[in-house]
Amino acid sequence: MSKIKLLNIVGARPQIIKSSAISRAIAHNYSQEINEITLHTGQHYDKELSEVFFDELEIPKPDFNLSVGSAHHGRQTSMMITGIEDVLLAEKPDCVMLYGDTNSTLAGAIAASKLHFPVVHVEAGLRSFNKTMPEELNRIMSDHASTLLFAPTNAAFKNLMNEGFRPENSPPYSIDNPKIYLTGDIMYDNSLFFAELAERKKADLIKDMSLDRDQFILITIHRDINTDDRNRLEAIMTCLRGLSEEYTLPFIMPCHPRTMNSLKTNLGCLFDELKNCKYLRIIPPVSYLEMTLLEKTCRMILTDSGGVQKESHFFRKPCIVLRKETEWIELVANGTVKLADANPGQIRNEFAGFMNPGIDLQYPGYYGDGKTAEFILKEILLFIGK
Ligand code: UD1
Ligand code: UDP
Repeated sequence: MSKIKLLNIVGARPQIIKSSAISRAIAHNYSQEINEITLHTGQHYDKELSEVFFDELEIPKPDFNLSVGSAHHGRQTSMMITGIEDVLLAEKPDCVMLYGDTNSTLAGAIAASKLHFPVVHVEAGLRSFNKTMPEELNRIMSDHASTLLFAPTNAAFKNLMNEGFRPENSPPYSIDNPKIYLTGDIMYDNSLFFAELAERKKADLIKDMSLDRDQFILITIHRDINTDDRNRLEAIMTCLRGLSEEYTLPFIMPCHPRTMNSLKTNLGCLFDELKNCKYLRIIPPVSYLEMTLLEKTCRMILTDSGGVQKESHFFRKPCIVLRKETEWIELVANGTVKLADANPGQIRNEFAGFMNPGIDLQYPGYYGDGKTAEFILKEILLFIGK
């Protein structure tokens, strides 16, 4: 039996992490049926945003790296489209697998759909209903160029139906007759798989960082609305410093280079002060296993990340989201994610509330059974007729 050829397109940190769930499922269950090749656009290129994940998550190194690097959205996306098109024409995959909502996702969707290669979109249907967010345009356009769409939540599935996708479509599926699925979340597959490993492989991390379990706060910030708006970033950072001193708890912030650049260039004086804070610690980005352990062992998470929000839920930690809206609305409805935007008063209130919740917070299983990657691959094989 000949194998199908699946082209994975990744580019940014969370996509490399997500794709590892698919690679692992192929290696464990479908190595006879699926030949996976990976294209890295080079959107993320620093070692700690890219290479570290290939090493740590034991995924095959990319077969192609376009090395596009950083640029304005149009320029960056167009360079990706050109490079992806060349690879598609040479490799002629049976399908193209895209993850999430980055410029790399959009470039893959445009290049593949224009050449009539079927697009499989993992994490389809998520919407913030805020089109000034670059990811929102990427999601909408990628979904509408896809043939198989895997929505990780009820809300995402409903969003697709509201945009005209029909669950009753029957095979043969195509870009004009797409198939939408309600699945779990492959990030949950990963968190389940790596949680114990993180404890074992990174056993000394908490001690080495002089942290106590359940006695520190974990922070990530990287969204353009927060990094590129000096006032928002200043408001958030000043608030975090204040809270860390008031509660005398370590606040650990693995810092995306975009945020680090903005702290240095836009908030130089404040950044100098932050470097000398007793409790707030700004550190370089950490590896996935380190992040998993920090998430597992912290008291609470403050973030503007999509992935970290969900991981807060997987590891049963309350989470304050430093945005006005979220795509993961079930978490807000559940009361364990609070939207505080960049508003210091709101951040403080939500923080105080989560420090003393007064009730047992609940973390229902919204994101599947940890076998979402297997489900997706099974459906791809059926689609391609194997
Ligand atoms: C991108 C995605 C975002 C995702 C995030 C994950 C888009 C539009 N945004 O945002 O959806 O949540 O990745 O982390 O696709 N930089 C470095 N080193 C790197 C990469 C970037 O220093 O390896 C700096 C550069 O100054 C660059 C800036 O970060 O200009 C932004 O990088 P970019 O990939 O454009 O967007 P992210 O903010 O990383
Ligand atoms: N992450 C990591 N190291 C860090 C920060 C985040 O490994 O220093 C992981 C995190 O555990 C999650 C993913 O990166 O799996 C989320 O990516 P990011 O926040 O960059 O993007 P988003 O999910 O918002 O698109």
